[in-house]
Amino acid sequence: MDISEDFKQELKRRINIADVIGEYVTLKKSGRGLMGKCPFHGDDTPSFSVSPELNVYHCFGCGASGDTIRFVEEMEHLDYIEAVRWLAQKAGITVPENNEDKNAHRLRQRIYEANREAARFYVQQLYTPEGKEALDYLTGRQLLPKTMTHFGLGYSPKSRFALTNYLMGKGFSGTELIQANLANASQSGRPYDRFSDRIMFPIIDLQRRVLGFGGRIMSDIKPKYLNTAETPVFNKSRNLYALQFAKNKADGQLILVEGYMDVIALHQAGFENAVATLGTALTQEQALIIKHYCHEVVICYDADEAGQRATARAISILRPLGLAIRIVTVPNGKDPDEFMKSHGEQGPARFRMLLEKSGSDIDYRLHKLKANYQLDITQQRVDFLTEACQMLATIDNSIEKDIYISQLAEELSVDKNAIRQRVEQYTKMQQRQTAKKQQRAIQRNLTAPQDWSRSDGAFNLRIASTEDALIALLMGHPDIAVTVFERLKPALFPTSFHRTIYRILQERAANGYDFTLMDISDSLSDEETGRLAKILATHPPEEHPQEAAKDYIEILQEEADKLTPQQIAEADDDTMREQMRKLLNKKQ
Ligand code: GTP
Ligand code: MN
Repeated sequence: MDISEDFKQELKRRINIADVIGEYVTLKKSGRGLMGKCPFHGDDTPSFSVSPELNVYHCFGCGASGDTIRFVEEMEHLDYIEAVRWLAQKAGITVPENNEDKNAHRLRQRIYEANREAARFYVQQLYTPEGKEALDYLTGRQLLPKTMTHFGLGYSPKSRFALTNYLMGKGFSGTELIQANLANASQSGRPYDRFSDRIMFPIIDLQRRVLGFGGRIMSDIKPKYLNTAETPVFNKSRNLYALQFAKNKADGQLILVEGYMDVIALHQAGFENAVATLGTALTQEQALIIKHYCHEVVICYDADEAGQRATARAISILRPLGLAIRIVTVPNGKDPDEFMKSHGEQGPARFRMLLEKSGSDIDYRLHKLKANYQLDITQQRVDFLTEACQMLATIDNSIEKDIYISQLAEELSVDKNAIRQRVEQYTKMQQRQTAKKQQRAIQRNLTAPQDWSRSDGAFNLRIASTEDALIALLMGHPDIAVTVFERLKPALFPTSFHRTIYRILQERAANGYDFTLMDISDSLSDEETGRLAKILATHPPEEHPQEAAKDYIEILQEEADKLTPQQIAEADDDTMREQMRKLLNKKQ
């Protein structure tokens, strides 16, 4: 998987980011960089900037950002290695196949094979006497045999060595099984099954490879679902459940639900364009994949508070991509599966009705907003209208905007022109702010410090990934920030980039300000914004933020304890890295 640093340098010398992007986007000179219309979202004004000097692109509209390789990954839907090959071919150079690459490639292949065998094994087990309880469970949830087969549902036996012994008998090594996360290592290093006594849902990609599994317990024991962790072939934030089926049935529209069982129930009921995320909130990467297969997304999340928060988040990711969005609210706090079941034979028809009467994301947001006000009180009507106008001002499409203006005017019996004027005022204000931001960012491009890009990721991976995860955690869960700020000093972040962000967040929190990327990008250089955007995009919100924060703090503390406080206070990045390297070498 690793491409040598030398080769990357060579590739960088041979290709020019502006040439590569220029094949997709018309770029015009602007300051020291180039600007064009963003290819990743419905962009009216050129908000996509390319800096050949820094080798980065960044969109001020949708926040897409990265380097040349990343651009090719996104545009051509390739993974990292494939994108590098694609670029190398263009540049007329060949990717050296060193032993490391070959080994990594072989390991990935072995993991795919092990996963496929495991999936077969789990399916077989479902139809044995031991699997009967699981089969009954699925039948009890009204899944038809052909649905179970279609989705490859299976059962992991109780014995903690069932799969491990079976796969080792087929020639897989313990290390391979652990790397595939099909097995865990015991204290003594002996592998044992990761999944036992669970219903198994294989997660399959568009090339029909088995990437990993979700495993549901049949009792009330927690966790209800256990998923394959990150492995060399499985990345939760880059895949969607059932997309391999849904993409062929999309016909312009995908239904986005929360759970595996929802997807399966919907497909069985004839809604074969349903997909789900893999137990995390929707990511930017998943949104881009979705955009590749449809132009309208129907979000159908749980009606509880968590589901509603997830809906708001999904809207904020999908709308900037120019996708049409509809929101289905399932009545009585049910999920789509439970809803259909509660209506028996009529379930599918009822769900169809919900789909047909679903409103747009703007309807949904206006509705939510309205619930905060008592509209029979004049002052509250005025306040509601103000907020509503600000919201409508963010709509790019002028026809769409006009429709909502009319709707609002009629509903509140207010003059349409008065509302239109207000909305236009806000639109202009927002445009001015964006323009100012762009201008400042372009200027900052000229003086941007580049220290972080030098040898990033080359040092202690444990620290690097913890720093990323903690920053993302804080920004995704501002409610836990105070506790973290109390326990962790900025100096414990070994990398200056993270330390800087952390300080900014602390300062903003002390002043009671928000800290989303939009809020703090002002204080960052263009490529720092890009870097942070990437961190956020690749770290979906945690299920248990508090516990996660505790773990991360512990790791950073543990690593820092290996230095003296004085050293930490004075150390620059290079010293810290050197120190980490030494420690790592000692361990090996
Ligand atoms: P049923 O309860 O069987 O109907 O499943 P569901 O798919 O409706 O599950 P639910 O709505 O509770 O959760 C939605 C999704 O979140 C699941 O499909 C999982 O992907 C994920 N999820 C739920 N519980 C857990 C958990 O305990 N751990 C993890 N990692 N993911 C979970
Ligand atoms: Mn459910």
